[in-house]
Amino acid sequence: MFTNRSPVAVSLRIYSEEADAPKQLRVGARLDKYRIASRLGEGGFATVYSAYDTIEDRRVALKIPDSRHLANSQTIDDLQREVRIMAKLDHPGILKLKDARFIDGHFVMVFPMGDETLADRLTRRIARATAVDYALQMIDAVAFAHQQRVLHRDIKPENFILFPKQTIQLTDFGLARIQTSAHPVSASGTLGFMAPEQAMGHPGFRSDVFSLGLVIYRLLSGELPDYPFEAPLPGYQKLRKGLSSDFVAMIRKAIDPVPNRRFRDAIAMQNAVSRIRYPLSDRSVMQLGRSDNPSRISQRRAA
Ligand SMILES: Nc1ncnc2c1ncn2[C@@H]1O[C@H](COP(=O)(O)OP(=O)(O)O)[C@@H](O)[C@H]1O
Ligand SMILES: [Mg+2]
Repeated sequence: MFTNRSPVAVSLRIYSEEADAPKQLRVGARLDKYRIASRLGEGGFATVYSAYDTIEDRRVALKIPDSRHLANSQTIDDLQREVRIMAKLDHPGILKLKDARFIDGHFVMVFPMGDETLADRLTRRIARATAVDYALQMIDAVAFAHQQRVLHRDIKPENFILFPKQTIQLTDFGLARIQTSAHPVSASGTLGFMAPEQAMGHPGFRSDVFSLGLVIYRLLSGELPDYPFEAPLPGYQKLRKGLSSDFVAMIRKAIDPVPNRRFRDAIAMQNAVSRIRYPLSDRSVMQLGRSDNPSRISQRRAA
């Protein structure tokens, strides 16, 4: 389906050789049917805009790599690979790529517009059951990616987008390689959500598990433990509050500093979660569904 000979590969190269550097996009600018509304974020190599789809009458997020990066053939290869990864990952927990093509010399990736990122959401209080529901959706999403042999490499709250009906979706797939070259880890002096071995240049499925576990730890404890992640972890008492001991043990295993002690991949993590019947210690509130769809929860509130 996504072979090296597909037309996308050809057109990316043709356009990258056109030296005309497109101008910065301004608010109100038109790109075919899209009207730029505002700038949402700027990463290592691309800018994300909120835009209005004048045909479909709805808001979209446009991710547009800086044109100077399109002159670099390594970046073109990375971009091509990442676009194809996102195009083939069809899962409710992964942000859907609606379209990707050149418009007026800009390479434009089009996504549904979300409400905010998990990083934004973390600044406000989140109910325990909601936070656990998000955690389960995140594990399902990364497990699905790992099933497709896709490593994310940059799992962090900024890369999860929230949508209505308590839905959370992972985005920014596999772009870490491009970003890493633009922002060396040493520049920040902090690992953030990155596994120690990944910081040493060895990313793998276990390092994705670590980052995912740390995001979930942050979501449920309000704290972000730092290297070397030794006990007592900051916020550990808060983490345990209201959670079953099985669920806490699952999170701890995911963020073990020793890669071999973690889950092999997010699929193994998802399997462990599916064996946990009650994530919350108050069993009347939430019970996990059957293992064929682990993220589905049934809520039975006590009268
Ligand atoms: N679909 C979306 N809906 C709402 N905001 C988005 C969406 N996609 C990206 N953003 C915002 O733009 C930021 C950067 O997007 P991302 O895809 O992570 O690119 P990068 O980090 O490579 O610049 C996100 O952290 C988020 O704040
Ligand atoms: Mg990002």
